[in-house]
Amino acid sequence: TPPAGLSVVYFSVHFLILQYFLSDPQAFLTYASSVQVGAQSGIHECKHQFALEKWNCPERTLQMSTHNTLRTATRETSFVHAISAAGVMYTLTKNCSMGDFDNCGCDDSKIGQTGGRGWIWGGCSDNVAFGEKISKQFVDALEDGHDSRAAVNLHNNEAGRLAVKSTMRRACKCHGVSGSCSIQTCWMQLADFREVGNYLKKKHEQAKKLEMDKKPARSGNSADNRGAIAHGFRGIPRTELIFLEDSPDYCVKNHSMGFQGTEGRECLKGNKNMSQWERKSCRRLCYECGLRVVEKRIEVVSSCNCKFHWCCTVRCDKCTQVVTKYYCAGKDGGRKPHNKTKRRHRGRRQ
Ligand SMILES: *[C@@H]1O[C@H](CO)[C@@H](O)[C@H](O)[C@H]1NC(C)=O
Ligand SMILES: *[C@@H]1O[C@H](CO)[C@@H](O)[C@H](O)[C@H]1NC(C)=O
Ligand SMILES: *[C@@H]1O[C@H](CO)[C@@H](O)[C@H](O)[C@H]1NC(C)=O
Ligand SMILES: *[C@@H]1O[C@H](CO)[C@@H](O)[C@H](O)[C@H]1NC(C)=O
Repeated sequence: TPPAGLSVVYFSVHFLILQYFLSDPQAFLTYASSVQVGAQSGIHECKHQFALEKWNCPERTLQMSTHNTLRTATRETSFVHAISAAGVMYTLTKNCSMGDFDNCGCDDSKIGQTGGRGWIWGGCSDNVAFGEKISKQFVDALEDGHDSRAAVNLHNNEAGRLAVKSTMRRACKCHGVSGSCSIQTCWMQLADFREVGNYLKKKHEQAKKLEMDKKPARSGNSADNRGAIAHGFRGIPRTELIFLEDSPDYCVKNHSMGFQGTEGRECLKGNKNMSQWERKSCRRLCYECGLRVVEKRIEVVSSCNCKFHWCCTVRCDKCTQVVTKYYCAGKDGGRKPHNKTKRRHRGRRQ
């Protein structure tokens, strides 16, 4: 099986070959592998951000939200679009700073200008304009439709790219006699991609549902349709994520949505050091879904008592440690429909 994110990219590559191969094959070949790496890092970050959520960023989501007759535009697919677009822009921008492309380098447009009191622009600012331009050509090309879903996906792609810009930081270096730092040179650099993920996770929580005109288009006139779409978008900042459909119940397996349900998922328990979010994971994944929590004792083998021997080896013992893990399980381990009375009772007690 291909690694996370790859299937998504195979999809886009297939489509993009049609678009680019004839017009500019060299540009396509130069950037395609970076686009692939970037899309993968977006999906990887999505899986991290949603590891303890009912919806945990399953592989099929992005495909389902683009090239598929069943495509949806939920709060979750809005995040997938944003983080993938952000990942592609981020990687291309980094590649540019690292000198991976011949036709691109640091953004030196401000070098030498005064930035503020005690500092001037200098160094190598990450060239986000380049990353933005190229990633837009690749990622937005996936939306070949002219309906409201395509418009929503494009909006969320843009929000993802803006997140990369919004999380950029000024980095500075001191100069002056013996490190007196009387003058600094500063440049703009990308934040860790994790920060982009955190930023977009908050946007996911605040995402807005677009209220489209529910009246069926009278004549199917596409100009009318575009008017309705534009109307629906009015007043929504470009930084915000938007969606059209309410999320389905992620507790239960839904094959057509590519979702497995939460039965069998691991949750965290019993560590005093956990964040509030982690501590509530068993409630969120199991109890809220009418499932119970089962404990499993698992033997973990690791290296221990390592000693250095002259010269030059390290010898270790193998230690087994029993750790307790927690999983969501159905009542009686079975697949019977849940008893609602009990479910509510259980939820409250927790
Ligand atoms: C761009 O960067 C990624 C990792 O950051 C790397 O895997 C990829 O090979 C780079 N692309 C080029 C063209 O060097
Ligand atoms: C799966 O999700 C779709 C879309 O939300 C919904 O129409 C369908 O009823 C769901 N199927 C099941 C088995 O829950
Ligand atoms: C608890 O968390 C703190 C800060 O994150 C860390 O320094 C400490 O080692 C942790 N303690 C345990 C027992 O994990
Ligand atoms: C659900 O559970 C409650 C309490 O155990 C029980 O009284 C009730 O009859 C059950 N309902 C169904 C439909 O099984």
